[in-house]
Amino acid sequence: MKWVAIAALITVFLAVGSGVLAHFIRSADASPKLLLDQERRQRERDYRFNLPDQELTVRWTPNQDAVEKGRFLYTINCMTCHGFNGDGNPVTPEGLPINPRDFTGKSHINQKVMFKYKSLNKTDALALDEDLKKTIKEGLPGTPMPGFSILSDDDLNSLLEYIKTFAYEVWRYEQPTGPVLQVPPVPEDLMSQVRVDGGRTLFTGRGCMACHGNIEQGAKPPVPLPTEWKDESGNTISVLPRNFAVDPIRRPSPPDIFTTIRLGIGGTVMPANPVSDEETWNLIAYVLHLRQLGVEGKIPSQ
Ligand code: HEC
Ligand code: HEC
Repeated sequence: MKWVAIAALITVFLAVGSGVLAHFIRSADASPKLLLDQERRQRERDYRFNLPDQELTVRWTPNQDAVEKGRFLYTINCMTCHGFNGDGNPVTPEGLPINPRDFTGKSHINQKVMFKYKSLNKTDALALDEDLKKTIKEGLPGTPMPGFSILSDDDLNSLLEYIKTFAYEVWRYEQPTGPVLQVPPVPEDLMSQVRVDGGRTLFTGRGCMACHGNIEQGAKPPVPLPTEWKDESGNTISVLPRNFAVDPIRRPSPPDIFTTIRLGIGGTVMPANPVSDEETWNLIAYVLHLRQLGVEGKIPSQ
């Protein structure tokens, strides 16, 4: 009887022991990279499970060489702000007034907007490669996002290839398509007094004033609007209406402002505006005029 009890005890020890050993072997095996990849594969399985059949076409497979090059470029240029896992949690989080974008796609999967600056007429769409490359090259004035004008087109493509791996399951099945807003040539008389005055009238008539405020008369943009939007990682994305006198325009060239006014800014309350081309240019003239008055300190303070 005694031996039976001892044998049973040894068996239990062996069973538990080998389990513990196996656990250690597994965790020694699973480098952080592998764990991440497993997690990503699991996320893809979950994501696929919820996709309708017609959306199951694979539209993107990462180019491994480009991913490796992109990983390097990301690590030295972007990681401090956009985070080790691309989740927008900065490696050095102190003092960023606006949180860096989360590239993991969680917000997109939850039907929130992943990118703000797009030329596609669909607020919930992913951004086109061209849109993202433009943002990376030119940066977003007024936010910590710097411009990387030194990067070549090949560098930018590699960076995108790597960034997309953070939301592998999304980009694999979904590529942004659709009509791109065509911006007509900038009129030569853009900053004429006639256009500025026309823009001022439209600014009231088209409801811009309600959010952006009558800053020319010393009023500040009213802010009973949602002032912030948190993505799934809890990052705050600023959605305060721009005060053109003090806050730089993120995409300041007239053709870019054209796109912003017509298509709005995804994920924020800045709406798409169905105005004519001429009206759009007049609004741009007025916005740039306000900006100029602000820079010159000519906007009356309250
Ligand atoms: C100093 C911090 C910082 C660095 C470095 C940085 N970013 Fe950003 N980035 C930001 C912030 C902050 C935002 C969000 C701006 C906003 O919401 O208006 C942002 C936004 C973005 C966006 C989103 C644009 C959109 O349409 O929503 C992309 C894409 C991006 N960054 C790519 C990069 C890449 C690629 C690099 C490296 C080459 C990089 N960033 C380096 C801070 C940074
Ligand atoms: C419901 C509120 C609302 C209305 C109405 C509105 N805007 Fe905006 N607008 C915003 C917000 C919020 C932002 C800033 C979004 C952000 O920070 O990403 C913004 C940003 C902008 C920008 C700055 C873009 C950049 O690149 O920095 C321009 C230009 C602009 N709006 C023009 C207009 C014009 C012109 C109208 C009227 C036709 C208008 N807005 C109507 C809320 C509004």
